[in-house]
Amino acid sequence: MARSGREGEERKLVLGKYELGRLLGQGTFAKVYYARDLSAAGTGGTGSSSSVAIKVIDKARLRRTEGMMEQLRREISIMRMVRHPNVVGIREVLASRSRVFVVMEYARGGELFAKVARGRLTEDHARRYFQQLVAAVGFCHRRGVAHRDLKPENLLLDEDGRLKVTDFGLAALPEQLRHDGLLHTQCGTPAYVAPEVLRKRGYDGARADLWSCGVVLYVLLCGFLPFQHDNYVKMYQKIFKADYQVPPWVSGDARRLIARLLVVDPAKRASIAEIMCTPWFRKGFVPPALSPPVTPPKKRLDAGDDDGGALFDTGGGDDDNSSSNSAGTTTSPRSCNAFQLISSMSSGFDLSGLFENEQKAATVFTARAPAATVVEKLESVARALGFEITRGKGWKVRMEAKAEGTNGRLAVTAEVLEVAVDVAVVEFAHDAGDALDFNKFCAVDVRPGLAEIVWAWQGDSPPAPAAAVGTA
Ligand code: ADE
Repeated sequence: MARSGREGEERKLVLGKYELGRLLGQGTFAKVYYARDLSAAGTGGTGSSSSVAIKVIDKARLRRTEGMMEQLRREISIMRMVRHPNVVGIREVLASRSRVFVVMEYARGGELFAKVARGRLTEDHARRYFQQLVAAVGFCHRRGVAHRDLKPENLLLDEDGRLKVTDFGLAALPEQLRHDGLLHTQCGTPAYVAPEVLRKRGYDGARADLWSCGVVLYVLLCGFLPFQHDNYVKMYQKIFKADYQVPPWVSGDARRLIARLLVVDPAKRASIAEIMCTPWFRKGFVPPALSPPVTPPKKRLDAGDDDGGALFDTGGGDDDNSSSNSAGTTTSPRSCNAFQLISSMSSGFDLSGLFENEQKAATVFTARAPAATVVEKLESVARALGFEITRGKGWKVRMEAKAEGTNGRLAVTAEVLEVAVDVAVVEFAHDAGDALDFNKFCAVDVRPGLAEIVWAWQGDSPPAPAAAVGTA
């Protein structure tokens, strides 16, 4: 990081185009800062579009704790998967030698928790927030993501009072399910955690989120927790029995909804669809408009090619103490480029999967061969890599790893489409196993074997036509 500012002025920390401001929050592994995007078009770096929140994660700490790198990687891919008006959006991921920076949408209104701490909300206000929470949670669940730590502290508000779910640090994807189809990691905050999570016998993350939604609803309407005790054992006993009282000011319809959510048996707990059918929820509900997915900017990984060294590397080991360079300009941190990724991997710190372009390893390539030849080649390459092959209809090949991967056996289907004489387009689809194993399969494992038939991988620079087709 570099510091900016004229003589006599307070020198601000600058992280590329972002000027870092006050601390917004702090966890065990990360701090979240307010920052301004100095390049924000048309605003001169002011106004809401220029405000961001940056989560700063210390690599050394991550490295020291087993599984944390994986968790960060998961958090980032989940944030990219769940782009929704009621979920804090991710903008980009940057890295230096010692830190990872996750740039997120800034929620100016702060935590919903702060509002509730001042006293319970009216039913209309509580409903408005609860409707947005359920819309966001339903969206995540439809994408296979369970949040697992829903509580008012993780519900932020933007400048228009719109709710934004944040902190997917504990969220889980289906690939974390064990063979019984259930999650087994105990996480979340005790007062909001579903009984089946506390029982440690495996749980359905989505159903557990609905219990937490019930606790959030209760807190919004009552101003205090439904299951509270100084002694954790006693609190757990209350949770196991769903032993709570609803104060008299809560309406009958709201009570009935709470009673449908704080149900000990997850199978009997209301689903998202059932919540949405209740009279209390339906009042004034307008489903949020979803915007189309944003295409990530191209060439992100190569943005720092002229850097000539590690990102934001100002010579010292710790980028926090770095300053402007001798030319008087601030050092400009950039997105990690391929070279830096490789160096961070060789130093035992694998950042792969964190960066947008690289995370979406090309799954499509164009081949200079007829479809039948491509299929044969795919089969021989996959066999050599230890995959079992099943031919599907048309030009489809399913490849399943014989060995267990990070999360079960990787399975990939390749579909070959002949688009012209001796030209075919091949697309890999992820069928089973870990998403990162799939990424590695497409980005690394199959490439050498396929090199002789590949014309171009999607996203790579297009080949010179003459060379590619072998004609003058
Ligand atoms: N605290 C943590 N994340 C935040 C965000 N995205 N906006 C505002 N405050 C936050």
